[in-house]
Order: sequence, then C-alpha cells, then structure tokens
Amino acid sequence: MRILEVKDYHEMSSIAARIIIEKVQSKPDTKLGLATGGTPIGLYKELIQDYRSNGTSYERVCTFNLDEYVGIDADDSNSYRYFMEENLFAHINVPQSQIHIPDGTAEDLKAECERYDVELSQAEGVDIQILGIGSNGHIGFNEPGTSFYSNTHIVELDETTRKANARFFERLEDVPKQAITMGIASILKAKQILLLVSGINKAEVMKQLLTTDEVDEQLPASALKVHPDVMILADEEALSSY
Ligand code: GLP
Repeated sequence: MRILEVKDYHEMSSIAARIIIEKVQSKPDTKLGLATGGTPIGLYKELIQDYRSNGTSYERVCTFNLDEYVGIDADDSNSYRYFMEENLFAHINVPQSQIHIPDGTAEDLKAECERYDVELSQAEGVDIQILGIGSNGHIGFNEPGTSFYSNTHIVELDETTRKANARFFERLEDVPKQAITMGIASILKAKQILLLVSGINKAEVMKQLLTTDEVDEQLPASALKVHPDVMILADEEALSSY
C-alpha cells in the first residue's frame, strides 16, 4: 500500500479526480468501481466540473458500485442508486445501460448477489476501484469478521455503521438493517484500488490499519495489504494519530 498524505478533503478530492480523469482519457472503456458515503462526493464534484469544462467522455465507461441497502427502492432518496444519480451519473454522459448497482429490492436477494457476481466476473475486474473506509474498518459494507474470500453477499449492518449513516436519513430507525455488498474477494479483483480517507473521525481506524503489517478479518480494510496496487489518499486529520 502506498500512502499519499494530502492537506485536506479538497486536495484529496482533486488528486483522486486527476487519477480517474487520466485513466478515463487514456482508456475510454475504463471500468470504474465506485463508492458512496460522504468521502467521494468531492471527487464526484470534480469529475462533473471536468466533464463540463473539458468534456472528458464517459460514453464507453462502465461503472460498478460496491453496495446497496436492502429494501429501499432505487428512486427513494436514501438508496445508493439515487445517491449516485444525484452526485454523479445525472451530470456526466455515462449510459444508464453501463451502470451496475446491486438491486436491494430484488425478491430473491441471494439470486441478486449471484447475478451481480456474474456481471462483475464478465467485467474481469474493474480497472480502478474507489473505496472509503468506515470507522470500524469496513470497506463497501463488509463489516468486521467478514471472510476475505467473500463475494457479493447480504450483510447485517453493525449498529455503529447504522448510526454513522443515520445522518443521511431522517431517523435512525429508517436506516436499513441489511445491505448487499461486493465481498472482500470481489473488491480485491480490481486492478488498482484508491482508498480515500478524510477527517478526524477516521484517525483511529487509520492508526489501526497502518501501525501493523497484520491482516485481520476483524479489520476488513487490512485485506488491502495483500493487493499489489493500492494507493491511500489520506488527509492530515485522518493521519493525525498515526
Ligand atoms: C458507508 C459505505 C462505504 C463508505 C463508508 C464510509 O457505509 N457503505 O462504502 O466507505 O460508509 O462513509 P463516509 O465516506 O461517509 O465516511
């Protein structure tokens, strides 16, 4: 894992955007692995800005999102599908048919996980995967204890995760208890991984991640240590305990 320390959220977002834009410009059919949460919003804003001013085209790009809540309709403002439309897809020229997000309202959730794995394996690994990290070390929605051999699966969300994400909902009770997530093994199939980390809330987990070489299923992000091409873009606050 390479660590690039940046000053703040703004710098993290601009550098991440530069990396994605260069990738898409040099390989117009790039397969992008995308994340939700507060962390990548600045990156998505920069991509939109660049699309408007420089016209970087996403016409041949395919996108794969990490996860989706169970039981929330795609057009509900709390779904990750809606989040992605609002924060990126509606503002660039990526065709809807090339957007992949698990369907958290599928009648047979297990079959939906299998369907998503087939889509992912047809893509033969995304070119670049954007990740954030939960304060308990989760990546995607892979909570502590998840097998590093996991593919797309249904998860029971930790109370800490539900509380952390409650800021996007009206009430804590509205935060779903389950989600579909790409597994750790699916994430590690990406050719390149970019982990974005910002803010003091992530300082403790970054310390845990960076102070040992240990790979431990209790800290899902530690799986990234076995991947050959991971860059961590973390700001001063996130690295302040390290
Ligand atoms: C959410 C998402 C993750 C995200 C993490 C951190 O639960 N499923 O993909 O990385 O939480 O979120 P934030 O960026 O808001 O801190």
